[in-house]
Amino acid sequence: MRMIRLKIDDKVVLAPEGTTILNAALKAGINIPHLCYMEMPEIGYKNDCASCRVCVVEVKGMNRLLPSCTTPVAEGMEVITNSLKVMQKRRLVVELLLSDHPKDCLICGKNGECELQKLAISFGLREMRFEGKEAKHDKQYSISITRDITKCIMCRRCETMCEEIQSCGILTGIDRGFNVIVNTAFNRNLIDTNCTFCGQCVAVCPVGALYETDNSFKLSQDLIDPDKKVIVQVAPAVRVAIGELFGQKPGTDCTGKLVTALKKLGFDGVFDTNFAADITIMEEATELKHRLEENKKLPLFTSCCPSWVRFAELNYPEILDNVSSTKSPQQIFGSLAKNVWAEKMGIDRKNLVCVSIMPCISKKYEASREELAVDENPDVDYSLTTRELGRIFKQYNIDFNSLADSDFDSPMRDSTGAADIFGRTGGVMEAAARTLYEWVANEKLDNLDFTPLRGFEEVRTAEVKIGDKNLRLAVVHGLRAARKVVEKILAGEEEFHAIEVMACKGGCIGGGGQPYHHGNFDIIKTRAEAIQNLDYHKEIRASHKNPYIVELYEKELGEPYGDKAHKLFHTHYVDRKIK
Ligand code: FES
Repeated sequence: MRMIRLKIDDKVVLAPEGTTILNAALKAGINIPHLCYMEMPEIGYKNDCASCRVCVVEVKGMNRLLPSCTTPVAEGMEVITNSLKVMQKRRLVVELLLSDHPKDCLICGKNGECELQKLAISFGLREMRFEGKEAKHDKQYSISITRDITKCIMCRRCETMCEEIQSCGILTGIDRGFNVIVNTAFNRNLIDTNCTFCGQCVAVCPVGALYETDNSFKLSQDLIDPDKKVIVQVAPAVRVAIGELFGQKPGTDCTGKLVTALKKLGFDGVFDTNFAADITIMEEATELKHRLEENKKLPLFTSCCPSWVRFAELNYPEILDNVSSTKSPQQIFGSLAKNVWAEKMGIDRKNLVCVSIMPCISKKYEASREELAVDENPDVDYSLTTRELGRIFKQYNIDFNSLADSDFDSPMRDSTGAADIFGRTGGVMEAAARTLYEWVANEKLDNLDFTPLRGFEEVRTAEVKIGDKNLRLAVVHGLRAARKVVEKILAGEEEFHAIEVMACKGGCIGGGGQPYHHGNFDIIKTRAEAIQNLDYHKEIRASHKNPYIVELYEKELGEPYGDKAHKLFHTHYVDRKIK
């Protein structure tokens, strides 16, 4: 590739042809503030509509200032990023953005995380020179996502994510001029659209126009209610990300501190979703084994990701028989806790509040699905994201970093490495393969690492010989990729035996409820490495070898996929196609 030589603020910089000034500058360690622009080449995400003009720079020989996020470098170019003219223009742009932006920052869903707020701070704005007319729109609540359209700055990051990465196209610019807003068609509530609640729009929104529907107040009320027993489960991906909210490096394993902090909040039981993930494998691997023996309902699609399940229900009801009936780990935990553990402890399930801490926004929606309740009492009462939990720890003045480690409570405590890797893309399929191999081939699996299923390519495939069968396995992350794979299968162009689908890029570690990555995909990769290390360091790395799970089936549940297990751990899906 041809390299271009230019000067940025008197520094000689070499950049590949086609690079934008912004990227060349950032690579050279020169910061240019930017707002609407976001790019994650690793997943093919690029939002470069150049709508905000915060990133303007001066280029010698040009009369007007240029947006650095869309202007390519040129040989001999001389760029100035910090002249008086540039600084004044940037400041003016931010002032104009603020002129019609609501000023209720103190109660905004992105307060402290807002990129516009950070710009205003860094520019030292102390007064509003322009008081523009403010558009007024009612907040729109859904079970998972709250939209505060009045705060939208028309950067289009959400629209690009929803359309180009997730292929859902729920959010789009509507109307013209001052009235233009990013909205759903016909102003429908998200639940009445094809939205899957993946929350990737929330993950990239720079301001408070999109955020998770917050359950933290509900939790604080339940924790002080003397008539309620409140227990909590924690998903695998949360533990390697929550430290970021307290200044720790991405990928720091905070399991022990997290458990201690939850105990300080006063939960009556702090349990591990990983225990339920091991059960998921017991059920899903058995289900796949049966389907392979009967050679029907193949390929089997995994069902841990509620956004993928809703995507299938909304777009491809014809494949719902192929989606595993096994509940997700969140819901298996809820079912086990409310139907088995509560009875043993003599607790009425109506007085037991089962809370989950998830990296995911869609889990809020999943917990509310009516088939995952008994007499309208949900197995999981509600879910909080990693971010919500971090805020609660801060509210309760818990000094997270100084906490000692502690262990999850038993009995839903001990898990295998197979459960850990549920947190990253490819993990569920790899965990299932570890168990399926030994069950079908009837021999010990020496190499537990199915490396072709790892990585970040949007579709990864592997051929695995198990007994006398050559199984074609696939791993997909992102809903655009899932759509492509499903279309190929329906057209008879591809054949697989089993496919893992996760809606979020990177899997749960990149979930919409995780600490904001601000477009830095390396953060997601680092979390994935941390998850993998947890697996490597576990004594037992296959779910069916977890002695506590074996004992649970022997003493309580009977056979995997048997009558009792089926009643507790399996579900059904609904054709939700919008006609
Ligand atoms: Fe370049 Fe918005 S960041 S125009």
